[in-house]
Amino acid sequence: MPGKMLNEVTATRYITPLREGGSLPGLVEADDLGTYVMKFTGAGQGRKTLVAEVVCGELARRLGLRVPGLVTIGLDPVIGLGEPDEEVQELLKSSGGLNLGMDFLSRAIGFDALAHRVSPEEAGKIVWFDALVNNVDRSWRNPNLLVWQGDLWLIDHGATMIWHHNWPGAPASAARPYDASDHALAPFGPDIASAAAQLAPLITGELLAEVTAEIPEVWLTDEPGFDSADALRRAYAEPLLARAATIHERIEIGEVGAK
Ligand SMILES: Nc1ncnc2c1ncn2[C@@H]1O[C@H](COP(=O)(O)OP(=O)(O)OP(=O)(O)O)[C@@H](O)[C@H]1O
Ligand SMILES: [Mg+2]
Repeated sequence: MPGKMLNEVTATRYITPLREGGSLPGLVEADDLGTYVMKFTGAGQGRKTLVAEVVCGELARRLGLRVPGLVTIGLDPVIGLGEPDEEVQELLKSSGGLNLGMDFLSRAIGFDALAHRVSPEEAGKIVWFDALVNNVDRSWRNPNLLVWQGDLWLIDHGATMIWHHNWPGAPASAARPYDASDHALAPFGPDIASAAAQLAPLITGELLAEVTAEIPEVWLTDEPGFDSADALRRAYAEPLLARAATIHERIEIGEVGAK
């Protein structure tokens, strides 16, 4: 399969857990001296969460949205032996091998709809993208948007593409509308039509093949109903390709909850 893979680094030091994160992501230092937010294969939903991060992060980036750079991080659980926190130690123990890392945006602050302005154009692109991947985790309660150096950055795509938890039902699930009423950017008058006109034509089979080629092979093995990693990569591409052309007609923004 052509295309490039994510860079791979090795964790050298576990720094601290990021307590706000439900899945207990941690801050780690790696052998390239970079500092990364690390998401663990041993956490809750396991590797599917990480696959969703890769597919959505790499897709959003190609659409011109800001997403912290992604890498894979090799973990030897031995670095967790000295961890005083038992929950952290368990997580590190169960996450040997390849995990996901994301560039740490130092001193980024969480998005606050009352403190930041977002243009209808940018809001439209983000809402359209979230509709495409069916992201249910960018609500005003939990925006998963960071403000860094004055710009909005997208994080936390682990709860997207719900259809990958039930592949036989994927076509029906992917045909459903997207309710954006609770979306963190709903109050900013998102220009969905203009976003769709600009972004939908970019979603091609070729682009999705490039994106899905970046999913580490070891996170794609032994999926029931698929006899190869590449077949599963194609399964990730299909619902996205099917949704891209018309999802803008099925984005519902009812009563805006935030304000
Ligand atoms: N790349 C990053 N740079 C700086 N801070 C980050 C980055 N990624 C995550 N964080 C911080 O860590 C928190 C948890 O990250 P994230 O939302 O990805 O984890 P999660 O476990 O999926 O969270 P939850 O389920 O609670 O939404 C974020 O709210 C943010 O404060
Ligand atoms: Mg989050």
